[in-house]
Parts: sequence; C-alpha cells; structure tokens
Amino acid sequence: MSPRLGGSARPPVAAGCDRKPPGPVAHLSLARPDDWHVHLRDGAILAAVLPDTARRFARAIVMPNLDPPVRTVAEALAYRARILAALPAHARFEPLMTLYLTEATPVAEIARAHASGVIHAVKYYPAGATTNAAFGVRDLTRCYPVLAAMERHDLPLLLHGEVTDPAVDVFDREAVFLERHLAPLLRAFPGLRIVLEHITTRAAAQFVSEGPDTLAATITAHHVLLDRNALFEGGLRPHHYCRPLLKRADHRAALIAAATGGSPKFFLGTDSAPHLRHAKESDCGCAGIYTAHAALELYAEVFEQARALDRLEAFASINGADFYGLPRNEDRITLVREPWRVPPTIPAGRGVLVPLRAGEAIAWRLAG
Ligand code: NCD
Ligand code: ZN
Repeated sequence: MSPRLGGSARPPVAAGCDRKPPGPVAHLSLARPDDWHVHLRDGAILAAVLPDTARRFARAIVMPNLDPPVRTVAEALAYRARILAALPAHARFEPLMTLYLTEATPVAEIARAHASGVIHAVKYYPAGATTNAAFGVRDLTRCYPVLAAMERHDLPLLLHGEVTDPAVDVFDREAVFLERHLAPLLRAFPGLRIVLEHITTRAAAQFVSEGPDTLAATITAHHVLLDRNALFEGGLRPHHYCRPLLKRADHRAALIAAATGGSPKFFLGTDSAPHLRHAKESDCGCAGIYTAHAALELYAEVFEQARALDRLEAFASINGADFYGLPRNEDRITLVREPWRVPPTIPAGRGVLVPLRAGEAIAWRLAG
C-alpha cells in the first residue's frame, strides 16, 4: 500500500552540458484518495463540479450548507440521490452525507442518521460564520443533548472552528475558538469523535496534535499553498477569499509541517467551495475557493516542495478512512509530473467558476 515514486531511467547529465535533455517524468502511484470536506452544491453547479471530485476521489464528505441546509435524514437521502443522478456514466464515487446541526435538531434525528448507513457526520456552523450559515448554532451548549446522542452512536462532529464574536479580530477567530469552545467540548464529550475542519493556524495544528485520539483535522490545499499576502497580490483578489481566511506565512508553514509530518490526525479535506464569478467579484463577495479541478495535484506540489511525496498517500488516502472507521480504498491512481495549464474559467450553470490557479500552470497532472 505504500506510494510508488518512479521516474524514467535516463543517464545522468554531465555538468556543464549546455544541451538540456527532457527531464525524467516522475510519476506517483497511490491508493485512491478521499476528500473529507467538499461543497458540491446542487442543480446546475452540482452537475458542473461533481465530475472533478468524482474523477479523483473515491468518496467525499459532502457539506450540508445548501440553501436551505440539509437538516434531516430525509433531506440528506434526497440530496444523496441528486448527487448520484448527477454522476457521469461509469463513475464510481460514493458521497458520504452529513447533517447540518441547528439548535432545533431533534435528538431522535441522530439515531435515524446512524441507522441510515449513509450519513457519516454532523456539521456545526457557528451562526453567520460563512456561506449559508444563517441557520447555524448560536449557543453550542443548547446542542449538548444532540452531541450526547452522537457520542452514543459514534457519529462524528465536524466543526467550522471559528468564533463569530465581532469583538474578536477576524484573523484570530480560529485560535479563540480552540479555548472558548473546543476545549470544553472535549471535556464534556470524551468519546465523541471530532474533526476540526480546514485548520489555518499554528495554534490549531498544535491543539490537534496534542489532543486526544478522538480529535483530528482536515487541511485544505489553498491553506498550504497560499498565505494572506495572496489576498492582496497586485490588488484585491476575491478568488483567494475563503473562510477561515488565509493566514500569515508562519501559520502556513505549520500547516505544511502538520500535513507532511506523518501524524494520522491530519488528512485531506479540500473545502472546495464553488461560487459563480459574479458572486465572488462583487461589493460583498462570497467566501470559498474552487479547487476540485486539481485538488490532488495541488497537494502534490506542496508535498514535493516539502520533500515529503512519500507521505502524500497517508494524508490523502489512509488517515481519513481510518479516522472515520471506513475501509481504505483498494484501487490506485497515478499522478505524473507534467505541467498543465488550468483554464481561466470553468462553465457552471449560467455562469463560470474561476478555479484556483486560473490561467496558470500546475506541476502535476492526473494520469488517465
Ligand atoms: C464555504 C462555502 O462557500 O460553502 N466557504 C468557504 O469559504 N470555505 C463555507 C465554509 O466551509 O465555510
Ligand atoms: Zn467548507
């Protein structure tokens, strides 16, 4: 099951030789990965983005923040059916459904979710923190009976880990969440599996590393590729705007160390979050970066730069499955080190998406 790094056998080039032969074509074979946090949306956008995710990943944890959100088992089953219907012919992809936690979620819904066999987690959004979070939770302690039921049924809780307190600087909201909400949560529910989603800070990486085995975290490609300078590179860059926000370079370095460090507590979750161009390029633009078009390839760049390509498979294909208690994927995929240019836009419904790296090159491409 270990990744196989290969290259075409070419004789070494003598130093001083001015004729540059084509470099060796490295390839990387790994167990098919899963995406443990993705936004697939619905309708025409779902149809446009789903092939990108299904081509790379065997499974994905599908976020429930539709408008209105997916709050019941019945709604999750209906959404799952729409996803399966939108899959390209012959695609083998399993959507892992989630419920959107509200202060009105009935305790009995948790037993139903567990019994459904297709709902794998419940998602906490602090009210107003991000896209379609208006139905989110204001006071998490009001959900404690539901969390107790999740603990009993071993249904993981996924956290958008930011406070919404306007007195807290927007770049500090994740760090404050750790002490204000996550620490008490871990004390109150020692048996509840918790994923701190899309972590962005050194504090969060450290908190998860030092936390109990019930606590893990997902890391996005954009948070290991970019720091907050990318929001202002040559002007205001709405396509680099996501929640939680990109942070300083030292936080990015801590996330790279966590992702490539070999700990089973960290795994791939793209948080690919498509919004049509007009909704991003607006006086009040939506948060979310579209990365599903090149998700694994983008991570490969980061792991290569960190000289940790041999650890990509554990991060992308093993740690998440183990944490969720799901079987590891048996088929394999291959990445080839061959640059390709990302299209400037991707058609979606009546508009276009502007993907990450639009019009620019990515070093790795997916074979086949
Ligand atoms: C997500 C979205 O657009 O649904 N946006 C984002 O910036 N990540 C919501 C979320 O995951 O916070
Ligand atoms: Zn998300």
